[in-house]
Amino acid sequence: MTENPQHAPRATIVIFGASGDLTRRKLVPALHSLACAGLLWPETRVIGVARSELSDEAFRARLYAGVKEYARLAPSECALWSRFAERHTYLPGAYDEAETYRQLADLLSQHRVSSDTQGNALFYLATPPVLYPEIAGQLGRAGLSRSESGWRRIIIEKPFGRDLASARRLNDEVHAAFDERQIYRIDHYLGKETVQNVLTFRFANAIFEPLWNRNYVDHVQITVAESVGVGHRAGYYDRAGVLRDMFQNHLLQLLTLTAMEPPAVFGADTLRDEKVKVLRAVRTVDRCVRGQYRGYRDEPGVAAGSQTPTYSALQVFIDNWRWKGVPFYLRSGKFLREKTTEIVVQFRHVPHLMFPRSDHNEIPRNVLSMCIQPDEGIHLRFEAKEPGVGMRTRSVNMEFHYAQGFGESVLPDAYERLLLDALQGDASLFARADEIELAWTLIDPIAAGGRQTQPEPLAGYERGTWGPIEADDLMSDDGRAWYYGCGRHRSVRD
Ligand code: BG6
Repeated sequence: MTENPQHAPRATIVIFGASGDLTRRKLVPALHSLACAGLLWPETRVIGVARSELSDEAFRARLYAGVKEYARLAPSECALWSRFAERHTYLPGAYDEAETYRQLADLLSQHRVSSDTQGNALFYLATPPVLYPEIAGQLGRAGLSRSESGWRRIIIEKPFGRDLASARRLNDEVHAAFDERQIYRIDHYLGKETVQNVLTFRFANAIFEPLWNRNYVDHVQITVAESVGVGHRAGYYDRAGVLRDMFQNHLLQLLTLTAMEPPAVFGADTLRDEKVKVLRAVRTVDRCVRGQYRGYRDEPGVAAGSQTPTYSALQVFIDNWRWKGVPFYLRSGKFLREKTTEIVVQFRHVPHLMFPRSDHNEIPRNVLSMCIQPDEGIHLRFEAKEPGVGMRTRSVNMEFHYAQGFGESVLPDAYERLLLDALQGDASLFARADEIELAWTLIDPIAAGGRQTQPEPLAGYERGTWGPIEADDLMSDDGRAWYYGCGRHRSVRD
């Protein structure tokens, strides 16, 4: 049988924080789906490292429950669970003790012979971020960040610091043991199929890109609305808030992909160079709404009188030839009316209207919506002649839905794609150190409350609504309105 060119190479995957939720809900289910899809050897070695004592059997039982509940391709679909699980072992140990890493080194050498890994190892840090410097440093001191043969790579997850200074410190600490090309920083939004499709849509079609600039685009809206609250993560969230939790990473990633220039070839450096150029051109202005849902301060773990925003909407500009003068409006919040992530490009009015008894205000403009989730797809609103006498127009919608075009359940989980890419050594969909630091440069002043000496009071909003009404003023002051609900092109709240 010929090997799928997309197939992952042989390697040992080492998960730190293996007894935690991320491992059970996301990482091992993603690895199982990859094996199921024929993209990962079912015999791939996985070593789970964590502090608590756990037998291999108990570890595997816990993983099995997670895979059954969360994997896109469940054990019943491919019948390889026992082959897959018997190579999963558990290594209990303290993260700050050299002995843990000595035992890990022994296991990696054994796998090199017994599983033909050639010394390849992927370290996944699924621990609280405060442990990243310790674990990376210990791996370096134990000589595990280098290998005489094969490769060594490390994956870390956001948050990458909580401001520019701490992000720089973290980058320096990880760089002390690993080179930048060995570091894979996950922003799970980049693992979403529909986020990657922004690039395909823009650069694999000849018809949209010529219009994708200040001459034809009136403005762009990027919305990441969540219907859930902070849940059990209030302790972390209350120190972060929506700007650090969502804007510094996911929203700015969506912004760079929407606004960047096409690189000549698709590659980790070419792509990230273009994204970095966008971040360098972003100009934040002092137009920002911060809100907090009612009842947030009663959530367990939230400080009394907390001023942490759970909603924000802001306007930015991109000062370059393509985008000069075109506002980009970004918003995100918890406990909103519905979960929807959408990039909307609103085009300009037609330059001259030939139809009698109509004026510009009556003719809606073309709108293109990229629905990132849910009901992934693309919607284009345009005008058609209303049937009958006269020349009245009506807005109609052209739609593409992933589920219809490609079938149900075809969209892999973000972690499947990202784990596979890291195993293959493709860092295109991971954030680079300079990208992270530039993003903090933009978010720091806004998260600190803007340029006013006295930050504006937080706007309150009811749960299950579209957020504070003040966010609508941000748009209406510019003669514009938000769109609500993915691809519905509706600019009235419900
Ligand atoms: C995470 C944030 O990065 O993204 C969470 O920390 C948020 O607060 C989550 O809920 C949203 O991800 P998704 O994929 O559900 O849109």
